[in-house]
Amino acid sequence: MKNLLDITGLTVDDVEKLLIKASAFKEGRALPTHPSHKLANLFYENSTRTRISFELAAANLAIPVVNFNSSSSSENKGEVLVDTMNNLAAMGIDLFVIRHSEEGIQEKLANDFTSNAIHIINAGDGQHAHPSQALLDLMTIRELKSHPIKVAIIGDIRHSRVANSLQSLFELMEIGELFLVAPKIWQPRKVHFGKVTSSLQEGIEGADVLICLRVQHERILESEQLNLIDYREQYALTVNNLKFAKPDAIVMHPGPVNRGVEIDSDVADGPQSVILQQVKNGVFMRMAIIDSLLAP
Ligand code: NCD
Repeated sequence: MKNLLDITGLTVDDVEKLLIKASAFKEGRALPTHPSHKLANLFYENSTRTRISFELAAANLAIPVVNFNSSSSSENKGEVLVDTMNNLAAMGIDLFVIRHSEEGIQEKLANDFTSNAIHIINAGDGQHAHPSQALLDLMTIRELKSHPIKVAIIGDIRHSRVANSLQSLFELMEIGELFLVAPKIWQPRKVHFGKVTSSLQEGIEGADVLICLRVQHERILESEQLNLIDYREQYALTVNNLKFAKPDAIVMHPGPVNRGVEIDSDVADGPQSVILQQVKNGVFMRMAIIDSLLAP
């Protein structure tokens, strides 16, 4: 693996190796160090979990990290991203974790930076992909459930890069059945895996895993607006709705959680929630990703 751009660039074997490596790191069974490498977090969109998770993952592997602040950078003076990267590479940075609103930008940059010494990790591109999130979600599911399972992704699927990457990963790894639950206006334009339904009950009936998504206001067009009170009434994960799923179903959310909108606090903090386990696993999965790029 030279870059991590999209789940579609991975094989079953790549994913299995990442899962094994991430678990070994979690159990403290192995701890490689890469002190001669340097990582830059280039985030052009807001982030808490993903940026800090990559920073901690690199620190755990003894890799120095620089955090680039797009609002105070020379890009405000007209410099383009590829020049920023060239300058950072001249200073010895060889790992670039990039989040950007432009879809496919990491892939374009990967085509510009063909040197084997430069590695690019996609930390989210617009509504397209968020591969490290999907991988840490699969790690969490695997710790708690064996395939085949029924998974439901619920909420604003149309604008979700997480839902997109999860579809690709669940298809690749043959996890079982996937339901994509959303009101008509937030249903995906393209589905590569899963059954779309606007019925929450149909989607979560007998499900083993419920993945709740944030309403992504920043990406919703005027014509796609929904009344949030109506949305909540029909689609929020509440203690009452959880009863449709299997009694031991797990509840997941990539964060940030909007309590009282897509999920109630009773559920987000309840006994079936594994949201913080996802966050914890994120550091180990990102260590596995970085280590696999450097030491395949
Ligand atoms: C997601 C993202 O940014 O795509 N969050 C995350 O990385 N954990 C989901 C979201 O913004 O709702």
